[in-house]
Amino acid sequence: PPRVFSGIQPTGSIHIGNYLGAISQWVKLQDQNEDLILSIVDLHSITLPHDPHTLSTNILELTATLLGSGIDPNKVILFQQSNVHAHAELCWCLGCISTMARLAHLPQYKEKSASLKNIPLGLFVYPVLQAADILSYKSTHIPVGEDQVQQIQLCQELARMFNSKFGETFPIPHTMITSSEYGRIKSLRDPSKKMSKSDPDEKSRICLTDAPDVIVRNIKKAVTDFQSEVTFDAEKRPGISNLLSIHSFVTGKSIDTICKEAEHLDTGRFKLEVADAVVAYVKPIQDTIAQHLSDKSYLLNVLAQGAEKASNIANDTLKEVHEKLGMVVKS
Ligand code: TYM
Repeated sequence: PPRVFSGIQPTGSIHIGNYLGAISQWVKLQDQNEDLILSIVDLHSITLPHDPHTLSTNILELTATLLGSGIDPNKVILFQQSNVHAHAELCWCLGCISTMARLAHLPQYKEKSASLKNIPLGLFVYPVLQAADILSYKSTHIPVGEDQVQQIQLCQELARMFNSKFGETFPIPHTMITSSEYGRIKSLRDPSKKMSKSDPDEKSRICLTDAPDVIVRNIKKAVTDFQSEVTFDAEKRPGISNLLSIHSFVTGKSIDTICKEAEHLDTGRFKLEVADAVVAYVKPIQDTIAQHLSDKSYLLNVLAQGAEKASNIANDTLKEVHEKLGMVVKS
């Protein structure tokens, strides 16, 4: 049976890239009654230097943000990764069949380690932990943005390798990308890069929790090109095309329709329209996030119940893995 799994790091505010590429997909899958498991992957977010106080605040805020975005804890399992010990343990087992050469090859590792003098071991092992997240639930489908594709390929390889060495255990998970349009939302400051939580320039993103005036300001300042018409061409005009994608998502209109309606507008005027549409779209989400944030005990309760359900599944898988590896000594 299909089982859908995905994860998100509690590192700072959730932006519209996370939302379009991943979270909105999760809500859709939830509403189609898919068997869905979602993890707030705090173990992943300590692979780069971090501030403990901020992390615990971020975990709570992310929980509220997911609920505010429409995730219903009665329909999906939503939990904090470090509360389910099986992830780290399965990561160890999978780490023993991973090779350093393969991990050193992964683009995210290369990118993130490039500027570091001392590279944490955790950053290197990151994708093995991600594979453990997925395989702990014998997941079959992984809805993510495009930047995760290579890491999930590694997971597929590890699953195949484990199965062939130790016997059929894991299904090979499939990557699910919403669409090339939403799977890679670009930075507002540099449309050749993806929108990212870790970009030091806050003007590069639209966060779900940004105040309306901040959203308007950042979209107004979005880098486009020297052509003033509103037309879509992801290759040649990535800046304006990115804004068109965002506009199309939040209004539900097709890109064609939007371009026609914007025929008499220049990009400057169009940006204001995009900003208004985004503000109107996120307003109700923001209100729900704020409501949830005011009820900390409810949020903690959601996470506790999620961890219990997730542990039940993950512990069974871990037990099976231990048996297959020959760690269970029978009397
Ligand atoms: P993270 O926290 O960076 O991002 C969460 C999700 O948002 C997607 N995303 C984007 N989609 C479109 N455009 C963008 N600009 C954009 N930026 C981010 C990401 O692709 C992701 O789906 N390693 C993962 C977390 C993880 C995970 C897992 C995911 C850990 N274990 C197991 C799936 C399965 C990450 O850092 O996501």
